[in-house]
Amino acid sequence: MKAIAWAKYGAPEVLQLRDFKKPFPKNKEVLIKIRASSVTAGDCRLRASKVPMGFWLPTRLAFGMTKPRVPIIGMDISGEIESAGEDVKLFKKGDEVYGTTGMQLGANAEYICLSENSALVKKPNNITHEQAAAIIFGGLTAIHFLRDKANIQRGQKVLVNGASGAVGTASIQLAKYFCAEVTGICSTSNVELVKSLGATKVIDYTKENFTKNKETYDVILDAVGNLSHPQCNKSLTEHGKLVLINTGLLTNLLSIARENIICGVAGESKEGLDFLRARVEAGDIEAVIDRVYPLEQTAEAHRYVDKGHKKGSVVISVGH
Ligand SMILES: NC(=O)c1ccc[n+]([C@@H]2O[C@H](COP(=O)([O-])OP(=O)(O)OC[C@H]3O[C@@H](n4cnc5c(N)ncnc54)[C@H](OP(=O)(O)O)[C@@H]3O)[C@@H](O)[C@H]2O)c1
Repeated sequence: MKAIAWAKYGAPEVLQLRDFKKPFPKNKEVLIKIRASSVTAGDCRLRASKVPMGFWLPTRLAFGMTKPRVPIIGMDISGEIESAGEDVKLFKKGDEVYGTTGMQLGANAEYICLSENSALVKKPNNITHEQAAAIIFGGLTAIHFLRDKANIQRGQKVLVNGASGAVGTASIQLAKYFCAEVTGICSTSNVELVKSLGATKVIDYTKENFTKNKETYDVILDAVGNLSHPQCNKSLTEHGKLVLINTGLLTNLLSIARENIICGVAGESKEGLDFLRARVEAGDIEAVIDRVYPLEQTAEAHRYVDKGHKKGSVVISVGH
């Protein structure tokens, strides 16, 4: 099978299309014919080994000290079960599924074997594989931080910084689903997009600094990494929460003792994917796709995502 080999850390050029042996499922695994995967900001950080301050060593320990331990890059997939191990109970041949491989990686490929217990569920039935692959990264992150950590409530005022990216577009829609009053921050060319996703108000960061406008919010989610607690303090309500998803280890450690600062890493689960599927099928959340690249142009897709200004997600379409 064809897949994107990842032999060393570095610029997008380290990624190469190569032939790999087609995997064969163990007893409790399924073989998935991948129809679409994605290139996320997380994939690019991992590839380049550019992670927030203090996370370099933990990341290298997890993924390989001198070179990547896992030969194929990529995390999110949407595809079809081609075969199942003899003890598999949750899936059968032909099921359309979506999910994330997590630390196992290997998503930018034609096939992958995953345990039936991994973060893999039936795909939303009203969208394409490309749309399904596009919604996973931002959707699961928004669910983890807004629903599970910030405990977002009806009527709350929520501010999303980086509203036009993968996490931002999903967060705006999820906050709207929870009946919050949402304000998005983005640059001029993305104002209409962010409004169309349900933001009541949009702040163009090239023209206005939200910390100076005297508005206060119950939840501020920073998906960019350029905000800090001292900067946001006056923009939070008395019990307001600041969610920093792109911050260094020190702030992560300090946040343990501070109830109103939320940091950490979003996990992946079947429950999160099922919840996301329900939202997509009900029309509450839709995938925002910036560009679609064929598998062989995955390095090019990384080059584009590296620029830090994509709108929603970048998808890898896998032809067979
Ligand atoms: N902790 C976790 O578990 C976790 C999970 C997921 C993601 N993350 C991290 O969160 C970050 C965002 O991920 P993503 O997938 O949403 O990235 P993305 O799709 O690349 O989006 C980044 C967004 O940031 C905006 N932006 C750039 N400069 C800005 C500025 N000065 N002010 C406001 N917005 C600005 C861009 O919009 P414009 O083009 O309008 O500037 C762009 O839409 C990444 O660093 C990722 O690694 C962390």
